[in-house]
Amino acid sequence: MKYDFKSIINRKNSNSLKWDFFDDDYPMWVADMDFKVAPLIYEAVNKKTEHGIYGYSILTDSYFDSYINWWKKYNLDMKRDELLFASGVMPAITSIIRAFSSEGDNILIQTPVYHVFSYVIENNNRKVLENPLLYNPNSEDIETVYKIDFEDLEEKLSDPKTKIMLLCNPHNPIGRIWEKEDLEKIAILANEYNVLVVSDEIHCDLTDPDIQYTPFASIDNDLTNDSLTCLSPTKTFNIAGLQSSVVFTRNKEFYETLEIQLVKDFFSGPNVFTVDATIAAYQSEEWLSQLKEVLFENKTVVNDFLKENISEIKLVPSNATYLLWLDISKLNQDFNTDSNTFSEVLREEVGLFLSPGIQFGQNGDNFLRMNVACPKSLLKEGLNALKEGLIKFKNSKNNK
Ligand SMILES: Cc1ncc(COP(=O)(O)O)c(C=O)c1O
Repeated sequence: MKYDFKSIINRKNSNSLKWDFFDDDYPMWVADMDFKVAPLIYEAVNKKTEHGIYGYSILTDSYFDSYINWWKKYNLDMKRDELLFASGVMPAITSIIRAFSSEGDNILIQTPVYHVFSYVIENNNRKVLENPLLYNPNSEDIETVYKIDFEDLEEKLSDPKTKIMLLCNPHNPIGRIWEKEDLEKIAILANEYNVLVVSDEIHCDLTDPDIQYTPFASIDNDLTNDSLTCLSPTKTFNIAGLQSSVVFTRNKEFYETLEIQLVKDFFSGPNVFTVDATIAAYQSEEWLSQLKEVLFENKTVVNDFLKENISEIKLVPSNATYLLWLDISKLNQDFNTDSNTFSEVLREEVGLFLSPGIQFGQNGDNFLRMNVACPKSLLKEGLNALKEGLIKFKNSKNNK
């Protein structure tokens, strides 16, 4: 392997949210990776650092061109005047909510889903409207293990108070690329009921090797012209701390409305590293393809380990993201427990932090989310900690 995905880089005492906010030995929660960035990004950022002056920056055409070129492989044709910069996907979604809905309106999300969606909806005094995903615990098949409940979706989109649907494509935390047919059905319903679809595609490049996601806006221009898509290199290339993204829309009126809102919210300016790091990222295709191999191997390691060692916990089939969704329903049932309790025990007993599924919605309570974007040796230590933590948990319950 040309790039180094094996070395363990000590991130403690680096102001890392993942490693320093709490004091766990195996922090496998927040979505960033324990791998060093692609060499081109490292060089670009170092060059900026060495310059020694870190003043205000501007966005260049080459910055937007790097997005435009990258998305050609996903059959999404974007133009410069259809792209707006925002200092992150969640800042973009915040501004979108403010610009395209009013206080008290419904914003629809498909739970279990990235928990910060609910936070920004509620922080802006809008109402969270859930379209819970349907889970089939007996399915081993990616296309049937989770399904969208379209009947429920239609009912909720038809509510005149529902103004925006936040789509997560691929979906965090279930790790699922939505099929073209699903996206088409969503687009048809959203058009029928005049609901704005905002497709968050931040995890789009992190798929299993040899498969591709489908951008919502690529399915059919007539159906998706009036949508907004959030794109960013930050998850794919592990540069979340550099805080950047773009919003794509073909609708000129929406573009202008959002442009004004981003300025009002002060999310419209880049930092000193944004432009060069993004351009370098979108030249790092080879690094990404090796990363995808490593992440897929890590998923296999987890699956094999659980099958051999932990019959109570099952890996939910997925095809995207480095976030694995672990089904703990048997454990919850046998010991009358929940995801928060078990997650806390793991942290206290063995220093392993997996996100409790309840964080992502009520229907996430039978799950834990595990971030496997780390060197394999560390992942194996984390899995051993999980095994040990589970034994301690069961002993404590059995001794009661
Ligand atoms: C689906 C999703 N959207 C947005 C974000 C955060 O994006 P940003 O850091 O650009 O605000 C995350 C981070 O994990 C995510 O999973």
